[in-house]
Amino acid sequence: MKLSWDEVTERIEACRACGLWEGITHKVPGQGNRDADLMFIGEGPGADEDMRGEAFVGAAGQLLTKMIQAMGMDRSQVYICNVVKCRPPQNRTPLPEEMEACVPHLRAQFLLVRPKVIVLLGATACRAVLGSGIRITRDRGNWVERKGFWFMPTYHPAALLRDPGKKKDAWKDLQAVLSKMEELGIKANAGEAKGES
Ligand code: URA
Repeated sequence: MKLSWDEVTERIEACRACGLWEGITHKVPGQGNRDADLMFIGEGPGADEDMRGEAFVGAAGQLLTKMIQAMGMDRSQVYICNVVKCRPPQNRTPLPEEMEACVPHLRAQFLLVRPKVIVLLGATACRAVLGSGIRITRDRGNWVERKGFWFMPTYHPAALLRDPGKKKDAWKDLQAVLSKMEELGIKANAGEAKGES
């Protein structure tokens, strides 16, 4: 069933499908261009995101902003969200049951945006979307096509901050994303932000 943006936002705000909501300041649904051709999916909010209610606004988010800018775009042109909408305590990896509880929200967002190309940032996003068999070091940089949607697994920006040696490969992956967008006839600078949520 396709929900409206208002319904998705309301469901996220009201969600108590797992225990993560108990420790949070804000839900972090995601934000950006709701008509985006390109979507970025991360793991889950950290402390800064929890404080502000916005995805990728801390140190990893600042690097993500630079990566998007290096692609010739800005954040308002893409849609950015996470697998889980509540911050896990101490930024631990979300548990499989927490991801399972939250993934209907991601699916609903995906059905509304219908991006053509999706960048999966890190192992958690890859596993939540493509399945538990994904290994980021082995599978990054390799396209996965599902029902006409193109998924690019790559490193999470936090991993790039911890190990800048990985940046070269991440940049290769983003260049592959730009090539795919060109191949699909998507203009990197097309579209305007249609609103936040
Ligand atoms: N890491 C994520 O995976 N998502 C955020 O929003 C911030 C940091």
